[in-house]
Amino acid sequence: MHTGSVTPPAPKATSMANDNTRPAVIVTGASAGIGRAIAERFLAAGHPLLLIARDAARLEVAAQAMRAIATGLPVHTLALDVTAADAAERIDAALARAGLAAGILVNNAGIGLGGPLVDQEIGRASCRERV
Ligand SMILES: NC(=O)c1ccc[n+]([C@@H]2O[C@H](COP(=O)([O-])OP(=O)(O)OC[C@H]3O[C@@H](n4cnc5c(N)ncnc54)[C@H](OP(=O)(O)O)[C@@H]3O)[C@@H](O)[C@H]2O)c1
Repeated sequence: MHTGSVTPPAPKATSMANDNTRPAVIVTGASAGIGRAIAERFLAAGHPLLLIARDAARLEVAAQAMRAIATGLPVHTLALDVTAADAAERIDAALARAGLAAGILVNNAGIGLGGPLVDQEIGRASCRERV
C-alpha cells in the first residue's frame, strides 16, 4: 500500500553503474538545505538528477559536490525561479536537452515562515495572492 512518504537511503560514495534505469528526479530548491539533502539521497539511490534553484553559482557548487560522489549518474542544473510563468516549459526543455525522463518531482523550493501567515513581512495582500 502506498503510504505517501518517500524515504531514500542515506547518501554514500558508491560505484553504482551508470545504467540510467531509474527515473530521473527533479528537485526544486536543490542548492541548499532540505532540497540539497534530498537530491543527494536520490543520487545515492541511483537516480539521475535535474537540480533547480535561482542562484546559478550556488546551484553549480551543489551540483559539483554531488558529482564528486562519483555515482557516474548525470547531475544536471537549471537556474530558474519556479514562480516564473514559463517555469514548466523551461523545465521540459531542460529535461529534453539532458535526455532525461523524469519520474519524480520533489517540489521543495520555497521560504520558511514562522508564525501566522498574515503577520509575515510579505504582508497581508501578498499572502492572499500566494495562498
Ligand atoms: N527548514 C525548515 O525547518 C522547514 C520547515 C518546514 C518547511 N520548510 C520548507 O522546506 C523548503 C526548504 O527549506 P530549507 O530550510 O531547506 O530552505 P533553504 O535552505 O533556504 O533552501 C531553499 C532552496 O530553495 C531555493 N529557492 C527558493 N526560492 C526559489 C524559487 N522561487 N525558485 C527556485 N528555487 C528557489 C533556494 O535557492 P535560490 O535562493 O538560489 O533560489 C534553495 O536552494 C521550503 O519550502 C521551506 O518553506 C522548511
